[in-house]
Amino acid sequence: MTVDITTKYLGLDLSNPLVASSSPLTGKLNTLAQLEEAGAAAVVLPSLFEEQIEHDSWAVHDLYEYGSAISPEAFGGYIPEMEGYNTGPDHYLELLEKAKDNLTIPVIASLNGMSPGGWTAYAKTMEEAGADAIELNVYRVATDVNMTGGELEQGYIDLVTDVRESINIPLAVKISPYFSSTASMCRRLVEAGADGLVLFNRFYQPDINLDELKIKPDIVLSSPVNLRLPLRWTAILRGRIEASLAASSGVHTGEDVVKLVLAGSDVTMMTSALLKYGPSHLATVLFEMESWFAEREYTSLEQGKGSLSQASAADPEAFERTNYMRSLVTYSSRY
Ligand SMILES: Cc1cc2nc3c(=O)[nH]c(=O)nc-3n(C[C@H](O)[C@H](O)[C@H](O)COP(=O)(O)O)c2cc1C
Repeated sequence: MTVDITTKYLGLDLSNPLVASSSPLTGKLNTLAQLEEAGAAAVVLPSLFEEQIEHDSWAVHDLYEYGSAISPEAFGGYIPEMEGYNTGPDHYLELLEKAKDNLTIPVIASLNGMSPGGWTAYAKTMEEAGADAIELNVYRVATDVNMTGGELEQGYIDLVTDVRESINIPLAVKISPYFSSTASMCRRLVEAGADGLVLFNRFYQPDINLDELKIKPDIVLSSPVNLRLPLRWTAILRGRIEASLAASSGVHTGEDVVKLVLAGSDVTMMTSALLKYGPSHLATVLFEMESWFAEREYTSLEQGKGSLSQASAADPEAFERTNYMRSLVTYSSRY
């Protein structure tokens, strides 16, 4: 029996719910082609950063390098060399145009920043270069001890409003889960113009190299346990906000995708698993997911989508408390 695994994300009709998220794999034409070949329904290009657009990258680079020489926590410089990841605004458009020429699946361009400003106009340039949608990654670690949560959140809203006003294509906003009231923040982002939310950004937490006495900014790839965070929030938000939901973090297997769809995800995104096992892993995940639905005689993904969400829970907060208490009391140790 065949299952209709098509889905809609940001108003785009997709052949299935597997999207390759922003990473070095989506920054090269050959790996983009491999991802499409393996069955990716859409791709998100690597981010172009606010800092790259706002300033002449070399002037900024020199400036920050100067600062790094006198600031001990900044050994190694603040602004990294971006070459080899993305190559700046001009080449970004070239990549976008070539990706559009070479692929048949939707190509989502990614902007990464934290403050409203002239740089957001670049979203329009991406639209004109053929992007099917924009993903705005708001990556901000709030370090200012005087900034309140309210001020920080308003900054997100202003940024989303700015980008929304400059484009006519769909807009997804990729956020972290760290708000005092994540659900309310999500609603406000949608009201400010987000057509979809990507749950979640992973904040990269640097380590310290004790031999070299240096900050070690290495990325730890996700593992399936990281799925729990988007799984919970997808289930909470499904049916409560008028936006597409994408899950990002910890999607490694077909079962991970199934869980997220049942919780209410419209699409699920993968990076770490693809970096670890290669682009062809996506085909395996797709097969596992489709088989799960087929074996249980679902006719479509839509049939299962959100069936395990909290949309029908009268009091999701009480539901969360109850589950929390239950998980504590049912834990059993061998000691
Ligand atoms: C090497 C690497 C580069 C990444 N680059 C970006 C980026 O440019 N923009 C972005 O929004 N996310 C970026 N991400 C985050 C991923 O898109 C994804 O959200 C995150 O890795 C969680 O998904 P995963 O568990 O499937 O890895 C990057 C992740 C990795 C590992």
